[in-house]
Amino acid sequence: MVTTRMVLAALVAASGALAGKGVWGDTCSQANNKLDASTWALSTDCSVSTYCDDTGHCVPKGCRQDLYPLGYSNYSFAQLPPMCPQGQFCPDEGDRCLEQSPLGGPCQKDRDDQCQPPPNSKELAGYLNVNGSICLNFTCYYADAQVGQSCVTENTLYTGTNDAGTTFAYIVSRDNCRNGYYCDGTQNQCMKGKNRRAACSGNKECISYNCQPNGTCGKAADEPLHTPAWVYAIVGIAIVALIVGVMTGLWFLHKRSREEHQVMLEQYYNEQIAYRQSIMSMSHAKNSLLSLPQGTTPDAARASLFGNEDSAGYSTAINPVPPNMQREVSAGYSDENSVLMMDRGHGGGLSALGSRFRR
Ligand SMILES: *[C@@H]1O[C@H](CO)[C@@H](O)[C@H](O)[C@H]1NC(C)=O
Ligand SMILES: *[C@@H]1O[C@H](CO)[C@@H](O)[C@H](O)[C@H]1NC(C)=O
Ligand SMILES: *[C@@H]1O[C@H](CO)[C@@H](O)[C@H](O)[C@H]1NC(C)=O
Ligand SMILES: *[C@@H]1O[C@H](CO)[C@@H](O)[C@H](O)[C@H]1NC(C)=O
Repeated sequence: MVTTRMVLAALVAASGALAGKGVWGDTCSQANNKLDASTWALSTDCSVSTYCDDTGHCVPKGCRQDLYPLGYSNYSFAQLPPMCPQGQFCPDEGDRCLEQSPLGGPCQKDRDDQCQPPPNSKELAGYLNVNGSICLNFTCYYADAQVGQSCVTENTLYTGTNDAGTTFAYIVSRDNCRNGYYCDGTQNQCMKGKNRRAACSGNKECISYNCQPNGTCGKAADEPLHTPAWVYAIVGIAIVALIVGVMTGLWFLHKRSREEHQVMLEQYYNEQIAYRQSIMSMSHAKNSLLSLPQGTTPDAARASLFGNEDSAGYSTAINPVPPNMQREVSAGYSDENSVLMMDRGHGGGLSALGSRFRR
């Protein structure tokens, strides 16, 4: 697999960079260029950003394979060696861009991108090849073998190391069968890929590329999670129930304050009506006060208002008393006393009224 190899190559490159390999100008030997036995990545005398040139010196690389290559953390993006244009590739050494190889031409280990794509590359392209081409046994092939046709297989043994530090081996088998088919290792013929739960002996036999340890095809690593319909139904009901519950709770919560508010509004309304009526009656009183005949003197006007003479024979118009207080006079109290008595006899609300009439 290309991706596996890339990760392993990156790890090896990182360890190489840390191992103090030759930097720019150091001497090296191309004879030491070899594939690492456990990762199949290229191993040289030079650091990850240099390659061993024909004169036996480490020199900066002339091209890069990855958009963000390893070992260039001190470089700005513009300083990185260039990517190769379409139709060319950057070899593992990274010296310069080369033309892609035709069908049957040479290619480096697992470098499917070094092979020219077939004419029908869109149809043949898949996640186990690059644009329909595949590099097997250092030779370019098209991944176009049909079911029943003979095919080429390349089994590669990789050695990995787990977190505990113990090593383990695993085999990656690649072939030139079309997408959905695999090359049977004993008959060397393309077979149809197996569906979920079918018995298998290797990842490539399964369409999902996942042969589980118990020998059955499992889910693909990138298979999306499918939620059953009843989960949607329950979640939907739960959402509706939650909304209804919140609404009901809020309704009960606000019911009390709503009623208090209603009473307040009613009181306010009654108060306003009362004010209005008071203002209207004051207005009527004013109109009737002003509608005296022309030429009426102030004293005559007062007399006409409060003009009932008492038994002593003088008019109260000299010191007018509103009609609603006149009964106090008839009961024998003086005006002053009647006002004081009102102050004493009634609460605070009326005391303001009393002081208005007090002299
Ligand atoms: C990166 O640059 C710093 C300072 O220029 C230098 O000390 C360091 O060794 C460089 N690291 C690498 C990996 O070249
Ligand atoms: C694969 O095809 C795509 C689309 O045609 C192209 O951009 C890409 O460069 C091709 N890759 C290789 C390695 O030829
Ligand atoms: C791999 O290729 C070499 C020649 O390049 C050939 O001799 C050998 O038989 C091939 N191996 C397989 C498994 O095809
Ligand atoms: C194999 O293992 C998977 C998960 O590890 C399990 O779902 C499946 O039922 C197993 N199949 C058999 C036949 O035991």
